[in-house]
Amino acid sequence: MEQYVIKGGAKLQGEVDISGAKNAALALIAAAIMTEDKVTITNLPDVRDINVLIESIQDIGAIVDRVDRNQVVIDGSKISSVTVDYEFIKKIRASYYLLGALLGRFNKAEVALPGGCDIGTRPIDQHIKGFNALGARVMIEHGMIKTKADELIGSHIYMDVVSVGATINVMLAAALANGRTVIENAAKEPHVVDVANMLNSMGANIKGAGTDVIRIKGVESLHGTEYAVIPDQIEAGTFMFAAAATRGNVLLKNVIPKHLEAISSKLLEIGCTIEEYDDAVRVIGNDNLRSTHVKTLPYPGYPTDMQPQIAVTLAVSRGTSIVTESIFENRFKYVAELVRMGANIKVEGNTAIINGVDELTGAEVSAPDLRAGAALVIAGLAAKGFTVVDDIIYIQRGYENFEVKLQKLGACIEKVNSEQEVAKFKLKVG
Ligand code: EPZ
Repeated sequence: MEQYVIKGGAKLQGEVDISGAKNAALALIAAAIMTEDKVTITNLPDVRDINVLIESIQDIGAIVDRVDRNQVVIDGSKISSVTVDYEFIKKIRASYYLLGALLGRFNKAEVALPGGCDIGTRPIDQHIKGFNALGARVMIEHGMIKTKADELIGSHIYMDVVSVGATINVMLAAALANGRTVIENAAKEPHVVDVANMLNSMGANIKGAGTDVIRIKGVESLHGTEYAVIPDQIEAGTFMFAAAATRGNVLLKNVIPKHLEAISSKLLEIGCTIEEYDDAVRVIGNDNLRSTHVKTLPYPGYPTDMQPQIAVTLAVSRGTSIVTESIFENRFKYVAELVRMGANIKVEGNTAIINGVDELTGAEVSAPDLRAGAALVIAGLAAKGFTVVDDIIYIQRGYENFEVKLQKLGACIEKVNSEQEVAKFKLKVG
């Protein structure tokens, strides 16, 4: 089982290139199978979730040419099945985007029902409500969601909760429905906009993505395109907090600063310096970081996917901070691990009360999920001594070359596969 071993204490310094956004790319891959033409996707992050989704579309007959690590050409002309197996959905929930994509193109789809996951129960009622509104019947049988329509017909849909997944899934199906669809109370995340942009470049007619009302005029068919995935806001934010927590100075390249505003403003509040350029952001930490309060919210609010990373930074900042998680009910599992590293954090319901400490001390900890895993790595980088992070398979789901990018910034971190390798690392770095 692979682990990260870290010797903390180095201030991160230098430049890091941010990869394409995993959560955008997942939906773009699903959108790519909605045409018989070839779709080229560039700036694709080479991470586990993406690679599993690619396998799942290959399994139903798509031909995928991996031109290089970050570019694929997807040819959906030979898709022969509309049934996506549990084997894929259990590894990656976002395979449920294939529901909207297949329903739009073939008027039917069968995808295994995702269960809860490491961060919450994650219902999909809003996806189903949207498909129903478009005229599709949806049944749950033998662990599968089966959906079918004689014809998809545009509709007016009000989302009861702001959901990235439901907004994207309904947008995918509605792109090829007959007539006009309006999605109200839509999610406004950058990746919702990215999916609309790619669909429009394939001939769809989608307006308003990025606002809370999306208007879709269904078209008969979609055609091929070449499209570059937007930069990953969450990967960027993770490096921003890594820079802050280690009191470093890091320039993040290939980012859209506007997408990072909620993160940048929290870093400013706690005393970091932020420099913004056209497509880069510099974060400069210092020894006098202070507390703040933060509540996770849908975009443009502070992202839930950045909650563990800010909590780690606040754990080593002066004063008492309050972090409130309002999106997922089970996203504080990492706190117990941080406490083992000397953090002073108490969780009450959906709130973490953090009393900053002077320093953390290295320990062996386990990544409970993707973002919390990345946050534990930040904790290890900021801590005194050695930290071993287990279960890094979670981190590999969403961060391309994480340890390599950190090493380039001067972090003392290695990916290891055995106790012997941990011992060797400790001997080497002293
Ligand atoms: C997306 O998940 C992201 N995943 C998550 O990133 C991210 O945490 C989340 O959005 C919130 O920003 C992908 O894009 C693949 P939601 P998603 O539907 O779409 C409730 C990561 O670490 N809800 O916006 O599943 C839901 O329970 C991952 O990269 C319903 O009640 O999230 C939650 O409380 C983890 N009914 C809220 O809405 C529904 O039908 C927002 O969830 C759907 C959602």
